[in-house]
Amino acid sequence: MNIPDIIIAIDGYSSTGKSTLAKLIAEQYSFLYLDSGAMYRGVTLHALENGIIDASGTIDEARLKSALENLDLDFRIDGTYIGDRRVEQDIRTLEVSSHVSPVSAIPFVRNYVDEKLHAFGQRKRVVMDGRDIGTTVFPDAEVKIFMTASPEVRAQRRFDEMKAKGQEPVMEEVMKNLLERDYIDSHREVSPLSRAADAYVMDNSDMTLHEETVWFQGLCQGKFGILE
Ligand code: DC
Repeated sequence: MNIPDIIIAIDGYSSTGKSTLAKLIAEQYSFLYLDSGAMYRGVTLHALENGIIDASGTIDEARLKSALENLDLDFRIDGTYIGDRRVEQDIRTLEVSSHVSPVSAIPFVRNYVDEKLHAFGQRKRVVMDGRDIGTTVFPDAEVKIFMTASPEVRAQRRFDEMKAKGQEPVMEEVMKNLLERDYIDSHREVSPLSRAADAYVMDNSDMTLHEETVWFQGLCQGKFGILE
């Protein structure tokens, strides 16, 4: 099946499998996959490593603002980079996860990331996942998907993912982090997580990845007609 040169926006709660589906779509249809959360995680990692976030979690916004002027955060074919350093693993720790939501709620941080995302979206055939892609970053995206799943299923997925990476997660902490991020992401003032009116909702609590791809094909066939 071929799909036209479009932008596909996949938004939703943490650990709903947005990136898994997005990567699969990118692979199947030769789209470029962009993980917008990685940009917010990169900013957060940089802030943590440079003492811009203190032990109590307070963010020095003035310092962060000037740090962003020189922060060379980029997507490359093999992941996220700060300058020449590949930070793909370092941005996925529980420490980064537990500070990223407040960092991503800061308006100048959102502007910094949005500028980068827009530049990448200039070329079509892009699938991007995040929280506000269909509402704010690419409101004209031709296909918008909003993903959700029960908190229990999501916490288990995150737990398994961390274990597989050799980390030692504690289920209560994983669940707490997930619920906190849900709350902050959907209640912040600027671009909160919300479903675009024209987004298709997928609750994948009980779906296999194969069922998700069949669902996506059905959506595209309905939208673009029968595709070769
Ligand atoms: O998708 P993720 O869990 O890696 O995203 C990390 C954080 O980044 C998430 O808690 C909220 C923020 N984020 C955002 O505010 N807007 C986006 N488009 C993507 C992520």
